[in-house]
Amino acid sequence: MAIESSRLKFYEYKKVEENLKPELFRGLRETPKHISPKFFYDKSGSQLFDEITKLQEYYPTEKEISILRDHINEICGIIGENSALIEYGGANLRKISIILDHCKGIAYYIPIDISTIYMQSSVNQLLNQYDQLSIMAISADFTKPIRIPDIEKFSRRTVLFLGSSIGNFEPDDLLHFLRNAHETVETGDCLIIGADLINDPAIINRAYNDSKGVTAAFNLNLITRINRELGSDLSPSLFQHYANFNSEKGRLEMYLKVLENFETNIGGEKIGFRKNELIHTENSYKFTIEGFSHIAEQAGFKVEKVWTDDEKYYSVFIIVK
Ligand code: AVJ
Repeated sequence: MAIESSRLKFYEYKKVEENLKPELFRGLRETPKHISPKFFYDKSGSQLFDEITKLQEYYPTEKEISILRDHINEICGIIGENSALIEYGGANLRKISIILDHCKGIAYYIPIDISTIYMQSSVNQLLNQYDQLSIMAISADFTKPIRIPDIEKFSRRTVLFLGSSIGNFEPDDLLHFLRNAHETVETGDCLIIGADLINDPAIINRAYNDSKGVTAAFNLNLITRINRELGSDLSPSLFQHYANFNSEKGRLEMYLKVLENFETNIGGEKIGFRKNELIHTENSYKFTIEGFSHIAEQAGFKVEKVWTDDEKYYSVFIIVK
């Protein structure tokens, strides 16, 4: 544990960032090259992502916020009294504020995120803004099972997994993740999950190819991160942002496209790049209501409710153990 005060416990499970370096390097040595989307979220990547959520073209955030607002009383009822509110990929201030402003029974807010820096700043803001709130922040890779200290002591646990972050999992891994979550909670506990829906590919493509180039900067920030973590000297201008909805697979795919042939030293090794080579950086799966319901049921949950916006771009699921 790193920091403790009366209202804050901060757990750093292993040195998350350090353990990730070999994984980053491995992906660059493989053919085809790939980088896990979890590498997006260093300090500037987290800031750029925050900017993405404010873009007019990036509809998931606004849609999700309006769904949460429309059903806030029901959400408070689900959360209940003397409860733990666990958030995977925690602490988007705009979303969590909606819940903290309305639901008064939260004894502990427990954000779990891979980015320690991102969480530290949002956690501090929340402590200032909500003077009754206690926070247990856990920096960890939540794709692996996590033990939350004293989690069984609360009368109820509610897990938030918002922003359609489930879209980053491959289908098998999503099932695995939901099964882990199923083990973390008790019978009767709920998960509140945001899921972006399959709709018009043009609308999805626009959301990931915004006119201000913020998503491009977010993707290209990986090059800066590679340089920093693996001691290379790649110029971001050798790469181009590429994002496209793959209808067959039901997912938005993001790549860094290589603009010329070259070879360079990365992590003490010569690595070759070919012109037009695509380095895979993200899959963002989109769902159907039936499709996600089926996965949730396979993981042992019952689908209690599904809310969507009027246009059915986006959905919020309440699933119960
Ligand atoms: C955080 C994974 C939900 O897939 O929409 C946004 C990340 N990538 N723009 C998404 C992202 C490019 C986002 N998730």
